[in-house]
Amino acid sequence: MNQAMTSIDGLADPLSTPLSELDVSDPRRFEHDTWQPLFERLRKESPVHYQAYGPGGEGQDGDFWSITRFADIMEVEKNWQAFSSEPSIAILDPEPDMILQMFISTDPPLHDDQRRAVQGAVAPKNLQEFETLIRQRTQETLDELPLGETFNWVDKVSIDLTTKMLATLFDFPYELRHKLTEWSDAATSDSRITAGAGLNIDERRVIMLEMLEAFTQLWHEHKANDRESFDLIRLLQKDPKTANMVDDPLSYLGNLMLLVVGGNDTTRNSMTGGVHFLNDNPAEYDKLKADTSLIPSMVSEIIRYQTPLPHMRRTATRDVELGGKLIPKGSRVILWYVSGNRDSDVIADANSFIIDRPNVRNHLSFGMGIHRCMGNRLAEMQLRILWEEAMARFKHIEVMGSPTRICNNFVRGYRSLPVRLHAR
Ligand code: HEM
Repeated sequence: MNQAMTSIDGLADPLSTPLSELDVSDPRRFEHDTWQPLFERLRKESPVHYQAYGPGGEGQDGDFWSITRFADIMEVEKNWQAFSSEPSIAILDPEPDMILQMFISTDPPLHDDQRRAVQGAVAPKNLQEFETLIRQRTQETLDELPLGETFNWVDKVSIDLTTKMLATLFDFPYELRHKLTEWSDAATSDSRITAGAGLNIDERRVIMLEMLEAFTQLWHEHKANDRESFDLIRLLQKDPKTANMVDDPLSYLGNLMLLVVGGNDTTRNSMTGGVHFLNDNPAEYDKLKADTSLIPSMVSEIIRYQTPLPHMRRTATRDVELGGKLIPKGSRVILWYVSGNRDSDVIADANSFIIDRPNVRNHLSFGMGIHRCMGNRLAEMQLRILWEEAMARFKHIEVMGSPTRICNNFVRGYRSLPVRLHAR
């Protein structure tokens, strides 16, 4: 490839390079935040796009189709019969030793049974009970922050708060809660999707076993205590369909992992994204300062704009036609939510961050259809409370430098965001 065809991030120029030579899944475009032009081009030129090689470039196994328009993504999401969630919701198939059974990567009826068993934990009544605790923990975190000095918002706020929430959801020993973050980070740092930056299978296996051991012990403790509680483990124990899940370690670990990862990176990165986007769009920050009743609408806009999970995968169960192309049975089909959320055919002025946009919940960040995010109301509540408490305390949260991002195509996330707080 010649020099003229590389762009500022050192990667092939997304506009002048033939599409067949571009690896749509390259995680470095997310690390450098340079993914937009490629997806815009795909939406225009090849919205249902076949890539003949896997993540990592030519010669790699794992060829896949990229779906980049909002309407096409919806069509696939709704048709779970033709687009299965098995064997994986990540581009690459799981390594043989790592096949954890999670209901996100199953189809009905198993999916529906397992989802039903745990969804009570995030039902509206339970959320109301959680609200007081979440608010207390948010206040505790914000009250401990230094005023007038620069610190990393990711560590001190986003990670801290989501970790506290996870401990609450599982009734996990509070003093050991940092372990939950460690396990979640390990689960999403497969070196095959992080341009080699993550952990290899042996490293991840050790960490997963540690998690399994801790959660097996927790299961037995919760069972022995038999107290009235709405934590996720008690809910699994009380439902006849999942009461013996602990006896099937791969399924138990898989489902816990899903809940840990589901509630961790996603909310964490939305907490950081909000601060970043408001600083990049001062007129929107002014709107919020003038009217804090915009917080719920802003929360949805933050989640759309961040799109914490850039994609999910489906696998074609038969030959299917989509957007005029024939997707053969067995194909990997990648739903690029990150692109659908910027599709101006459906979302007006989609590249702008607008906290009071009409129809603001109409985005793809939570997916759609039978797998639509189970924790969406919980995530929105956490973010709403964070912003209510932050606006009550700080006149301004000032971003002091550029953010750094993680090199990952499954989680769109921040490593750091330096900020300084100005008290009211
Ligand atoms: C901003 C925060 C969040 C985002 C962006 C997000 C995003 C997603 C997405 C994209 C899916 C797959 C949807 C599909 O395939 O159609 C999903 C599923 C899921 N999420 Fe979330 N999530 C968030 C927060 C949470 C939280 C807090 C929890 C914890 C309770 C959670 C638990 C789950 C579960 C259990 C599933 C699997 C649902 C199923 O397969 O039926 N998520 N989420």
